[in-house]
This record gives sequence, C-alpha cells and structure tokens, in this order.
Amino acid sequence: MKIAIGNDHAAVELKKDICAYLEEKGYEYKDFGCGDGEKCDYPDAAEKVGKRVAAGEYDFGILICGTGVGISIAANKIKGIRAACCSDSYSAKFTRLHNDANVLCFGARVVGAGLARELVEAFLTTGFEGGRHSRRVDLITALEERFGEK
Ligand code: RB5
Repeated sequence: MKIAIGNDHAAVELKKDICAYLEEKGYEYKDFGCGDGEKCDYPDAAEKVGKRVAAGEYDFGILICGTGVGISIAANKIKGIRAACCSDSYSAKFTRLHNDANVLCFGARVVGAGLARELVEAFLTTGFEGGRHSRRVDLITALEERFGEK
C-alpha cells in the first residue's frame, strides 16, 4: 500500500507526527507537503496528493490543513477523488466501508496527534464493503461526469 501525504503551513507538526506513525507501522509513504517555515496554500497541497492518487500512483492520500475542510473541498474537485474530512474514528472507518474514500483529511487545529493516528489507522485498515454501496459510489462518479466539465 502506497500513501501520499500533504499539508499546508497550519499542519506541519501534525504531518510530521503522522509520517512518524506511518513509518512505525511500516507503511510506504511519500510526503508532498509543506515543511518548516514555508507558507503553502491548501489547494496546492490537495492537488499534489490528489492527482497522484487519482492517477493510481498512490493507493491513498492523507491531507491535513488547519480545519481539514478547505483541503478536502479542494481535493474533491479532482476527478476520481473521494476525500473525507473526519474528526472521529467511526467516520474514518465508515467512509472506507461505504464511500470507498481514497483520501483522508483532518484538521491540525481540530484533532490532536493521538486522535489523528487513530483516524489514519481506522482509514487504512478498513476495506470498501461494496454491495449496495458500489451503486452509490457509482452515482458519485456519475455526478463527476455530469457536472465535472464546465
Ligand atoms: C490556513 O490558515 C487555513 O485557512 C487552512 O489551513 C485551512 O484551515 C483551510 O480550510
């Protein structure tokens, strides 16, 4: 499993902690995010990660900004991305089970490092349930087809 991670300037410390966690757990990952002392706009971080996940170069993305909201809105503009902004483990798990989400987002000003690790673990260890949920995910994809091009 290959993971792409990204962040803006509001989330440098939490991103570092999540990278340390991924390393501890033996996940393969690459950091496309903002480093110490840099100013980075969250849509740019979303693009760097989202386009690679959409292209299949990475299985999952993790995106962190101040709230998790802006970066998830931006990532969801990329065709093929289903980004979920989560601040509880139940949602992080069920967005995999039911939505086949491929990008997890959260906010460095919202969740602490301990909860963030739990969100990542729930997200990465849960598979898509398929069945009736496949039809609904297909409906999401159909929205992209119908409204994606201006
Ligand atoms: C940056 O200050 C902040 O606006 C950003 O990290 C994020 O919270 C936006 O949704």
